[in-house]
Amino acid sequence: DWSIQDLAKDLVNSLREEVGPSECVIMGVSGGVDSTVASTLLIEALGPERVHCVFVDHGLLRKNERQQVIQYFEHDLKFSNFHLCDASDLFLSRLKGVTDPEEKRKIIGHSFIESFDKEVENILTKHKDIQIAWLGQGTIYPDRIESAQPSKSAHKIKSHHNLTLPASMKLKVVEPLKELYKDEVRRLGLQIGVPKDLIDRHPFPGPGLAIRILGEIDHEKVKILQESDYLFIQELRNWKLYDQVWQAFAALIPVRTVGVMGDARTYDFIITLRAVTSVDGMTADWAKLPYEFLEHISTQIINRVKGVNRVLYDVSQKPPSTIEYE
Ligand code: XMP
Repeated sequence: DWSIQDLAKDLVNSLREEVGPSECVIMGVSGGVDSTVASTLLIEALGPERVHCVFVDHGLLRKNERQQVIQYFEHDLKFSNFHLCDASDLFLSRLKGVTDPEEKRKIIGHSFIESFDKEVENILTKHKDIQIAWLGQGTIYPDRIESAQPSKSAHKIKSHHNLTLPASMKLKVVEPLKELYKDEVRRLGLQIGVPKDLIDRHPFPGPGLAIRILGEIDHEKVKILQESDYLFIQELRNWKLYDQVWQAFAALIPVRTVGVMGDARTYDFIITLRAVTSVDGMTADWAKLPYEFLEHISTQIINRVKGVNRVLYDVSQKPPSTIEYE
């Protein structure tokens, strides 16, 4: 793909011009497409010594997600400035007893920034000789024009980073993908060697599974949801349906219903499956997944995930419903 090859070259060149020769960039990575491609581009343009990537694990990621991110940066790229901040205990303890969706988002947003900043301070302590002058961001063109719903803005967490970094640090912001649309980001990513399974991923919200476990969050619910969601996504891929939907995920409805397994009565949670088609997430239609698939995945989840005895499929459109549940 010639045009993408040229684009990659142009972006690398302009990054080299923009970021001064002795300056370093700090970049938050989430495992999502945009931050992965932006980081890869920065590493390519500036070299692995001048880029530091911070990955905050808030404990509300999907099953295996953290391992995938580590696999890519540390093993595939052999990138040594990858900094994992495992903050799952902090997040889960702060979220204990909290049921209000906005409150959950607020706690996660603040804790995220706090964890990120702490990690940056650690890096500065360890590498006294480096000059971190830039904050890298995975912003893409639609992020800048979109009139995001303020309370659910996808960018609140990301864009506030630069306001709260250690007070002594005045960072300039570099956004390598700011002129690109999503499909260009994906093609560019493939061109510069980002694996396909990181490129074709559905969007995943910053607060993660916290807004897919309705109401109060605890460790057991996180586990149940991770397993259910993992099966759903895996089977969508096996049935070649994953690329046909814009976003798909499981959510946990913390209501117990009665069921029967073998001879025993069960009293377990409900899992709801959401799969939508969309162009930009602003409006969405529920995906008309084949009945055979729905039957199969429902059986899989109920048989394999302990704590679940009922699976629902969400047939609501956005608007008036939203894609996420909280
Ligand atoms: P809704 O639920 O508003 O979601 O229909 C539209 C799209 O935005 C994603 N979303 C978020 N992304 N932080 C994010 O990074 C958030 O707080 C957030 N809330 C919703 C959602 O997954 C969907 O793709």
